[in-house]
Amino acid sequence: MCGIIACVGCGDDTLDTLVHGLSKLDYRGYDSAGVALTAPGDETVAVVKREGKLERLREALDQADAAGTAPSGTVGMAHTRWSTHGPPSDANAHPHTDCSGEVAVVHNGIIENYQTLRDELEAAGHEFRSETDTEVIPHLIEDLLAGPEYDHADPEPAIREAMTRLEGSFAVVVSVAGVETLFASRQDNPLVLGASPRDAESASGERSEPRAGATYLASDVPAFREFTDRVVYLENGEFARIDTDGFTITDSDGGVVEKTVETVDWDPEDTGKSGYDHFMLKEIYEQPRALRQCLQGRVDEMGGRVTLDVDIEPERVQFVACGTSYHAALYGAELFREAGVPAQCFLASEYATSTPPVDDALVVGVTQSGETADTLSALREARSRGARTLACTNTVGSTAARECDEALFIRSGPEIGVAATKTFASQQTALNMLALSVAQQRGRAGTMRESLSALRDLPGEVQAILDESSAEAVAEEFVDAPSYFFIGRGVHYPVALEGALKLKEISYKHAEGFASGELKHGPLALVTGETPVFAVVTGDGPLATKTIGNVKEVESRDAPVVAVTDGRSDVGRYADHVLEIPEAPPRTAAVLANVQLQLVAYHVADMLGRPIDKPRNLAKSVTVE
Ligand code: F6R
Repeated sequence: MCGIIACVGCGDDTLDTLVHGLSKLDYRGYDSAGVALTAPGDETVAVVKREGKLERLREALDQADAAGTAPSGTVGMAHTRWSTHGPPSDANAHPHTDCSGEVAVVHNGIIENYQTLRDELEAAGHEFRSETDTEVIPHLIEDLLAGPEYDHADPEPAIREAMTRLEGSFAVVVSVAGVETLFASRQDNPLVLGASPRDAESASGERSEPRAGATYLASDVPAFREFTDRVVYLENGEFARIDTDGFTITDSDGGVVEKTVETVDWDPEDTGKSGYDHFMLKEIYEQPRALRQCLQGRVDEMGGRVTLDVDIEPERVQFVACGTSYHAALYGAELFREAGVPAQCFLASEYATSTPPVDDALVVGVTQSGETADTLSALREARSRGARTLACTNTVGSTAARECDEALFIRSGPEIGVAATKTFASQQTALNMLALSVAQQRGRAGTMRESLSALRDLPGEVQAILDESSAEAVAEEFVDAPSYFFIGRGVHYPVALEGALKLKEISYKHAEGFASGELKHGPLALVTGETPVFAVVTGDGPLATKTIGNVKEVESRDAPVVAVTDGRSDVGRYADHVLEIPEAPPRTAAVLANVQLQLVAYHVADMLGRPIDKPRNLAKSVTVE
């Protein structure tokens, strides 16, 4: 989704800082990009923006530089746009300006009342240049500044007033020509401030980091992480003012809010590719480390306990999530039911209309970003109906983490590839521990020691798969197939769904995941000799036997079968290929099997030359409903 980076105090490095920041937000997915700069004495804000990838903006800036017209300034902001209102085009790219070019705005989110505002502003003589909802903001500010009660010398009151007229979700940064200050506010869309060392010093008594005197605003920390690790998360309705003296944050009534400056616990290098061809591959290979981090200090094998820093004793659980996180939630729900806790799973976008009674339910939002609009909205709906909520997320400081009563962090480290990989494995692992902790509370932790040692072994087993997988050969054999099926039962059903989602989103090939037993109720009609079927079969119990029955059904329709298995059943006899995983109980086998399917998806997409880290039409963090 859209990305914002803005800064004050970077001096001659302002433009470079902005473009560098945009490159760090690149992973979010976008279709146009732009920058706006100003300096004391300017009468208009200099804006350059282009449809397409960042490279096109860079070319435009280079050309402007060669012609001596490059935008310059000491205050700047930049944006990558993922189009919602109006197609990708130079005109629809951000920043947007008012009629005079004096006010520039970048915005993430959707202004729901933009048509009403636009009609009013056009009636008042404002001329619009784009089809976006965002453009109403600079015109609205211009309109207010033209009135007698506001003053150009201090535009803050007019900007604050403009914010109160906006309905919808937004993270907005405003720059006014010649003013060495940036103004920002947010409502249901993330905005984080990067504090300079001086600000950090006053808050924490420590001193570190380069670039004293610079302050940043961004939609996401990677945009400025190389310059500071000190961050302040803005809350809904808060208003930030940043200038060369630092920052001030006020509430909607103008009262100063004392904010905590937090320290980011990951390094800038974590957002680099470290020699891998793609972030996705790097992140698949980072899974052993991610899982170790997820487990660290939480599993006490000697004491036979799981200790999580969350205060819950649920009678029932409702999960809400989207996409890959929904698959993790399906897995989590299965484990809660095993622990004797009734658990349901809802697609977050359907939760409000499902209106399930919440009563004594704990509502768990599973969301790696913590910013997915559908999930936040479902969690808010649950809260408004009196439910206690828990966010299972990778992002400390995210909206979900801050708004929920409890947060369980999955500790994956930054994930840049749009396709979720290590965060899915960490979500599975965190939910596994959560279900165990509840089983323990209820005195139902019968196989606790076995479960804990399985968790302990998990990172090493994932490493063994990464070292030995033959997924690339399987991908090579089936890369030309028109369609792929994935099947599994119990905890392996979400793995089948996730295997199919991963393949379709990055390879653009048709892929479907099914509960194994469902095949014969319809989808079997599509199975031919050209439909590879990936079957997840572990153990040798009744579920394995039943899935093997389903494997035989597809085999007798000539479909090639790839078994993802620990070899304890005889599924290998019916399979054309076997992707092996170590022997493990079902709950951790589901993590292991998924790693093989991630690798298949990656290699198919790579062989097809797809833009793996930024698949078309997709975004890392989906902040619109
Ligand atoms: C797919 C993928 C998406 C996300 C979904 C929810 O690889 O990453 O399906 O899982 O958009 O995102 P979060 O987890 O941030 O709520």
